[in-house]
Amino acid sequence: MLHNETILVTGCTGRVARAIVRVLLNETEATIIMTSRGEVTLQTDVDERVIFKQLDPFDKKSIKECIHQHNITMIVNTAAVTNVDKCELDRETAWQVNVHLVELLTQVCRIHGLKLIQLSTDYVFDGENGPYTETDVPEPINYYGKSKLAAENIIRSAGIDYIIARTNVVFSAEYTNSPDFVQWVLRNLSEKNDVRITTGQWCTPTLADNLATTIIRALTLNKSGLYHISGFDYVNRYQFAVAIANSFKYTSDRIIPVDSSELQQTALRPEKGGLINFKVESELGVRMLTIDKALKKLQNKWQNLIS
Ligand SMILES: NC(=O)c1ccc[n+]([C@@H]2O[C@H](COP(=O)([O-])OP(=O)(O)OC[C@H]3O[C@@H](n4cnc5c(N)ncnc54)[C@H](OP(=O)(O)O)[C@@H]3O)[C@@H](O)[C@H]2O)c1
Repeated sequence: MLHNETILVTGCTGRVARAIVRVLLNETEATIIMTSRGEVTLQTDVDERVIFKQLDPFDKKSIKECIHQHNITMIVNTAAVTNVDKCELDRETAWQVNVHLVELLTQVCRIHGLKLIQLSTDYVFDGENGPYTETDVPEPINYYGKSKLAAENIIRSAGIDYIIARTNVVFSAEYTNSPDFVQWVLRNLSEKNDVRITTGQWCTPTLADNLATTIIRALTLNKSGLYHISGFDYVNRYQFAVAIANSFKYTSDRIIPVDSSELQQTALRPEKGGLINFKVESELGVRMLTIDKALKKLQNKWQNLIS
């Protein structure tokens, strides 16, 4: 499995897409078609199994041509508007990308008999009672969560083979269009800025490579359905920030604990979010990384880059 596959990955400049492509290259013999709506900005000569294509994700004709040309067998859709506050403010774009694009890809998958792998989020839950399992009932409280749940529902009722991978607070060594939480905390600590961080918004932070490896394992085992894939530890944002400071040998004095209400974020956030990985452990035999181990891996990666 995954040796004769040709996998189209959307949203390739994004954090999760890059991790998925990296793991596909390291752990499988699949051919990868990386697509992005923008011009080539990534190094594309990394491997002859990778082909980069600029593709308008809403252009059904071009997607179909791409599928025929390359004999695509699976689509991994990571493209999304992921900025939670922007989704609240520009609902039309959020719905267009997070829902309509998925609808289109679902149709394409049905017509061509392809498997769809869709990334989703713990923000489909209201955060009253997290962390959550796959059988808990979603009840989103912001527009991002609503759009991601609508996409899940379209996929579930489409009669196609699929994996929906819900995750949360993803971080990686790479610098993409926007910094992740770890990069943001480290930048502020290195610049000696005070950072106000909520003691709410509980989560299970996830190393992108750990997420990607687990998705690829599910594909290799030919699994289908809904999976919660996130880090092992359950922390609030303040605790996570302190763990980051400790791990990178900064003092945590500049991390100031505040209540979520003091941050005046545009969109509501689930207070007790996060995901439980029992299904991944029992069905895939994967134990997700603790925060300490994940941050160590990050450090090693950065260390290797500069040495
Ligand atoms: N990061 C997290 O903490 C997190 C948590 C839970 C779930 N997820 C899910 O994981 C997936 C990937 O997240 P990520 O962190 O990798 O996101 P990301 O870094 O923001 O990347 C998303 C990609 O989507 C594409 N995109 C953005 N706006 C678009 C638009 N208006 N039209 C078309 N394409 C657009 C862009 O790729 P191109 O410009 O290259 O096309 C962008 O790089 C998403 O489905 C997200 O909901 C992420």
